[in-house]
Amino acid sequence: MLIPIETCTRCPALVANRQRIVRGYGDPRARLMVVGEAPGYRGADRSGVPFTGDRSGRRLQALLIALGLSQESDPAVETPRIRDVWLTNVVRCNPPRNRNPTAAEVANCVPYLRAELEMIRPAIVATLGNFAARWAFGELLGTEPPAGIRQLHGQTWPAGDQTLVTLVHPARASNAQMAVAEKTLRKLLT
Ligand code: URA
Repeated sequence: MLIPIETCTRCPALVANRQRIVRGYGDPRARLMVVGEAPGYRGADRSGVPFTGDRSGRRLQALLIALGLSQESDPAVETPRIRDVWLTNVVRCNPPRNRNPTAAEVANCVPYLRAELEMIRPAIVATLGNFAARWAFGELLGTEPPAGIRQLHGQTWPAGDQTLVTLVHPARASNAQMAVAEKTLRKLLT
């Protein structure tokens, strides 16, 4: 059974480290769901909103502004007014020293992500980084990703009535890769 997220204590190292549990955020009727890795220590773990408050958050918010999905003009806003997009993560608690989540931590948190996917039913699922790509390939296509995220960046994958888009995480993406992300998402949203 899925324990309410507010009282989740499944991952001892994350429970000891987290400032808060970071839930998904945005428009529950969104066509686009963006899936990151885990709340960042300086960002979402502090602000409580995925992809805000740190460099990757500002880069992602700038992308949403460029796509017309945010009413903000400043990508540093930590409770952005966004529409048609839902922001979430594979893991909802900040791992110590921003380390990668373990396989057990991902497995513990995936039921929440699956429940969100079923609630939002987005037409487009955009994954940021290897962890999210691996989850989405398994969840939507029943396979492993065929390559690392650098090779998969900007590619789209039909999955029933949904489309998966695999992107490099904004923490590691070059400006050129961010431009590819914008172009790919713009095309899917029009
Ligand atoms: N903030 C998030 O919410 N997720 C990430 O993957 C990185 C920063």
